[in-house]
This record gives sequence, C-alpha cells and structure tokens, in this order.
Amino acid sequence: MTDLKAFQEEIASRLADTQDLEALEAFRIAYLGRKGKVTQLFRELGTLPQSERPGFGQALNQLKAFVESQIEAKQASLGKTSERSDSSFDPTLPGVRPRIGRLHPITQTIREICDIFTRLGFETVDGREIETEFYNFTALNIPLDHPSRDAFDTFYTESGHLLRSQTSTVQVRVMEKRKPPIRIIAPGRVYRPDAVDASHSFMFHQIEGLMVDARTTFSDLKWVLHIFLRKLFGKDLSMRFRPHFFPFTEPSVEIDVKWGNKWLEVLGAGQVNPNVFKQAGYRPKKVQGFAFGIGVERI
Ligand code: DAH
Repeated sequence: MTDLKAFQEEIASRLADTQDLEALEAFRIAYLGRKGKVTQLFRELGTLPQSERPGFGQALNQLKAFVESQIEAKQASLGKTSERSDSSFDPTLPGVRPRIGRLHPITQTIREICDIFTRLGFETVDGREIETEFYNFTALNIPLDHPSRDAFDTFYTESGHLLRSQTSTVQVRVMEKRKPPIRIIAPGRVYRPDAVDASHSFMFHQIEGLMVDARTTFSDLKWVLHIFLRKLFGKDLSMRFRPHFFPFTEPSVEIDVKWGNKWLEVLGAGQVNPNVFKQAGYRPKKVQGFAFGIGVERI
C-alpha cells in the first residue's frame, strides 16, 4: 500500500514533465497499456492472500481512475497549446471580411420620424396588426353601411378578425385606457387588398399620431406637422394643406410636400371627430384633439 502512494507520486511528476501529445501517448501506453505498469499491478492481485485482495483491488481502481483523469486533463491543456502552434495557420493570409448588416430603409425612416416626435413630447406606443371590426371601422366613425369602408377594406380571418387597414385603430385603443392629455405616435404595418404598383401594396407602413387635451386646435395641428416636416425635409420645405374627407376627423386635410415641381401627398390629418371621442368614452364637449396618419413608404 505504501508503495502504491509513492507510485502515484511518481506518475504525477512524470506526467508534469510531458510536453507534447506524442509523449503523452507514450506515457499512457507505459502505464495503462496492455503491458503497462498499472495493468501489471492488476495481474499481481491474484498472487495476494485472499484477505488482502479487496483492499488492494480498491486502491488499484482508484489509482487507475487517477491516471486516466490526469491524462485527460493534460490532453486538454496540450491540445490548446498545439492549436496555437499549428503550422497550417498562416497569419499572412487576408482575413474573411465580416458582412455588415444595415437597417432596412423603412426601419430607418420609422426611427427617424419617431425620434422627431419624441423630441416634441410624443410617446411611441404599439398597436395590433390583427384587429376587430370595431377598432378598424366602427370606433373610427365608419358604420357598416358607410361607403368609405370600401377605401379601407382589408383581409378577414375565418374567426371574424381582420388585418388592420390603418394605424388609426390605435387611437381608440389608447383613449379607452388613458385620460387626456394624450400625445402618442404608433408606427406599424397595415394591410389592404391592393395590387402592387409604385404607390400601392397589400402591406405597407403607417405612423399614426394623436394629441388630445382640453383645447388642442387646428393651429396646433398645423404647427406640429409643419415643425415635423421641416425637421425631416429641411427648412426650405413647401407644404400644402388640401381639404379632404376622413370619417374620423372633421375638418380633414391631406398634406402634400413639394417634390421637384410636383406635390407629393405624405399624410392625412384633421381634428378628431366627436363621434370618435364618444366611442372611446370621452365627453366630446370636454376634449379637443387632432390626429394624423403618415405613409412611411411615401416619406
Ligand atoms: N387612416 C388614414 C389612412 O389610412 C390616414 C389618416 C388620415 C389618419 C387622417 C389620421 C387622420 O389619423 O386624422 O388613409
């Protein structure tokens, strides 16, 4: 037994001197191989008196496990160093150029717009793409038999839900939960059964805006949107307010910006229709506000 202890120390110190994988393999054969020193000791087990065998056998098993684990650890540490000195690695070869990802222009535009409104005190909120008929139409003062349902028609699910055709759905969802003052913008995807051309698609992006307080007038609307468009397109921007109709605002406008020598429509806006306030549970006599919807692809 005392010999075994000394033997284990000898093994440990020899292993410490092993400097490469080849020497380690030779070491393994010398101790654990078929004719290895540890293997030999197992053979001697049979020559011992019956009473000493169990104790010695157990000690031998421990010794063997010790040697195995030491070899494994050494192998791991030698493996790492040899990788570094691997001759197949040529540091003079040109590197692999990393692919650099970029944000999609739509994402960039949404972030830029939200940034401007954040600085004007607006909070960015999330809406839902799968909506109910109520939030897409009824809450926005578009009754079932109203002709403007056609303009905002969309895709329906078999369970009676729909893909929102405008981000205006967020207006009533927000007002139901909060009291004025409200200053929010809501970016997101909208869907329409439109064929794709230069200015139409079955899916596109809008940013809805809503500002409600005791007194929020049309001149507030004009100021906010003018500041916004100037920040986005530059100080020399020309913009045009064109009278229009939207069921959820009264009066309503479409806003164009000068693009070369043409006008390009970029958003719709107006004073929130009292019927929309009613649907949200507000008292129309107590509140006033404006809303707008920006077409992100247009921007
Ligand atoms: N929802 C309108 C559309 O999809 C855009 C719009 C117009 C939103 C006027 C508004 C608004 O909030 O006041 O065409």
